Amino acid sequence: MKQMGRTDAAFLPQELDHEAQEERWRASIAELAGAIVRSAGDIPDVLEGVTLTPESRDEFLRLARELEDRARIVQDEVPELSFSELDERVTTMRASCIECHARFRVLPLVR
Ligand code: HEC
Repeated sequence: MKQMGRTDAAFLPQELDHEAQEERWRASIAELAGAIVRSAGDIPDVLEGVTLTPESRDEFLRLARELEDRARIVQDEVPELSFSELDERVTTMRASCIECHARFRVLPLVR
């Protein structure tokens, strides 16, 4: 028993460190997702002065809203999700970036 007690004590600082690291990691994801929520709300502004068919405009606005919703889900659910669930939500959110860019804004090549 005495031996086990010592082992537990030896592991404790590491575990605490791990928890603190996880907390920081989750906090930075929540912050980033919050920034995306706010930016997504501004995306429709880029349509000012741009000529699009009504269908394309609707699709663009739908994708901007979808990104906002998905980023909000990430932001709200960060504290309770497992790593794999979080990974899945972030991947789903990124799909909105990729879809809108593929359709409306091909990213310039990085030189
Ligand atoms: C609803 C459509 C839409 C969504 C969703 C979207 N973007 Fe964009 N993005 C644009 C448009 C349009 C521009 C160009 C804006 C301008 O020139 O004023 C742009 C510009 C950018 C730029 C600057 C480079 C460039 O092409 O001018 C980056 C980087 C970028 N987006 C990344 C992202 C990321 C990362 C996400 C997801 C988190 C995202 N975008 C989601 C439409 C979108």
